[in-house]
Amino acid sequence: MSSTTAVQITNLTKKFRDTTVIKDSNMTVPKGCVYGFLGANGAGKTTIFKMLTGLLSPTSGTAMVLGLDVTKEREKVLRGIGSLIEAPVFYEHLSAAENLELHLDYMGTKGFGTGVALDMVGLAGTGKKPVGKFSLGMRQRLGIARAFIHRPQVLILDEPINGLDPMGIRDMRNLFLSLIQKHGMTILLSSHILSEIEHTADMVGVIVNGTVVCELYLDEIKGQSGIRLEDYFFNIMSGEGMNYAKANEA
Ligand SMILES: Nc1ncnc2c1ncn2[C@@H]1O[C@H](COP(=O)(O)OP(=O)(O)OP(=O)(O)O)[C@@H](O)[C@H]1O
Ligand SMILES: [Mg+2]
Repeated sequence: MSSTTAVQITNLTKKFRDTTVIKDSNMTVPKGCVYGFLGANGAGKTTIFKMLTGLLSPTSGTAMVLGLDVTKEREKVLRGIGSLIEAPVFYEHLSAAENLELHLDYMGTKGFGTGVALDMVGLAGTGKKPVGKFSLGMRQRLGIARAFIHRPQVLILDEPINGLDPMGIRDMRNLFLSLIQKHGMTILLSSHILSEIEHTADMVGVIVNGTVVCELYLDEIKGQSGIRLEDYFFNIMSGEGMNYAKANEA
């Protein structure tokens, strides 16, 4: 794995009992980019993210983060990762700051500090309000803050804009840019919504029925005349796409 690669999966397969949900998938995420992981409901995005963060073990193949095998060196890998996978779980009776403090204690670092992190996600004014009284969007913002507050090198965010309003979505886009440009992070985010990926990601990986079928830089397609991004990805996601993609490469 090259030193310029943040995440690499090779021939990754995951079976639950007799059902194969991830099949022979490969993925390469260069350092310093926003990698948008696009796929329909049930395609396998969360399952792959869980293998990248050690929440699930691969049946075969490897998942490497920052040059380390996630299965073999989970503890080390987790120090370099921040993640938000599915709905975040908090101590409901504690405030946002208290929840973040607990996470920082656990990670053994001061990171950005709770005040700065809450400000970065637009939750500075929530004071002592218990997280149990937070709205869905506020919980999501706090989940994102907890993912990056310890200053990880790689951020893995599963459907990060779930529940956010349009302003929140724009704020998060700016936040991601700043985490990459000012703090040198690499961000993987998943979505089933193309427009979200289109406006946020540098690079896109598409997963169809458990297999990553293509990876490309968005600029490569945007630069080609006569192609509507929506049609391009819809074709790929619906499983007809590789022919379409190849025809347009020529
Ligand atoms: N613990 C499990 N046991 C059995 N099957 C599972 C398990 N977890 C996930 N699956 C199956 O794996 C497939 C991929 O699920 P996954 O949650 O990774 O999809 P996803 O791309 O994240 O979808 P969504 O956009 O709905 O979040 C689905 O068919 C799902 O039913
Ligand atoms: Mg999912």
